[in-house]
Amino acid sequence: MNELKLSKRLEEVVKSIPKKAMIADIGSDHAYLPCYAYLNGYIRGAVAGEITEGPLQSAIQQVKKTNLTDVIDVRKGNGLEVISLNEVECITIAGMGGTLIRMILDEGKEKLEGVTRLILQPNIGAYHIRQWLMNHHWSIIDEKIIEEDERIYEIIVAERGDPLDTYGNEKEAGLLLGPILMKKKEEAFIKKWTHELNHTKQIVSQMKKSATTEEGQRKLLKLEREIQLIEGALA
Ligand SMILES: C[S@@+](CC[C@H](N)C(=O)[O-])C[C@H]1O[C@@H](n2cnc3c(N)ncnc32)[C@H](O)[C@@H]1O
Repeated sequence: MNELKLSKRLEEVVKSIPKKAMIADIGSDHAYLPCYAYLNGYIRGAVAGEITEGPLQSAIQQVKKTNLTDVIDVRKGNGLEVISLNEVECITIAGMGGTLIRMILDEGKEKLEGVTRLILQPNIGAYHIRQWLMNHHWSIIDEKIIEEDERIYEIIVAERGDPLDTYGNEKEAGLLLGPILMKKKEEAFIKKWTHELNHTKQIVSQMKKSATTEEGQRKLLKLEREIQLIEGALA
């Protein structure tokens, strides 16, 4: 992977960026995403944010090497603190867990005022992101699911709007499985949730043998509900 050839996962993130937007890529590591997006005409500029020194230096080197220092600004910092108000229209956050992405959005929510689109690619726990988006009046306008190197990734694209538009009357299943993904029901979706279903069933059967506490019973009920929702979506 480099600035000319992205992973399929990051390429799908880039394809959802509004035309010629100014973006912030948070957790940019090598800054491959903003470099590729600029060189291929998707964006007019970017802030590449990184919290860790090693990946920050890789990003700085990468931007220098590709002669993009005028249009891509690499900044060190935690989450959205690297951008100022109304500086970018679109934020990409990819390759982290859903709870970390949710934390970055929540801690930086005052910076989201001028932002019109979020493109979020959690490695796990997309549920946490959907929940946050719903609670903060972001509507999911697109979702993608892809398989690469035997891993399955989800991408959530959100704009401001009424969460009701996102979920209709299928909120519970939509939050877990993805309101758009469950309608598209693509191959990767079926593969992911068939695997999750079997895994959850195994946990439930183990728990049934041992869960005697109230907490254990609550957990069991939650997992049994998840099984119902997954089975409903796969049917
Ligand atoms: C696994 S890498 C993913 C890199 C790239 N976005 C991708 O999808 O390939 C996650 C990166 O996010 C950075 N990161 C983690 N928490 C962060 C935060 N709160 N603010 C900025 N960067 C963060 C890490 O240092 C790391 O370089």
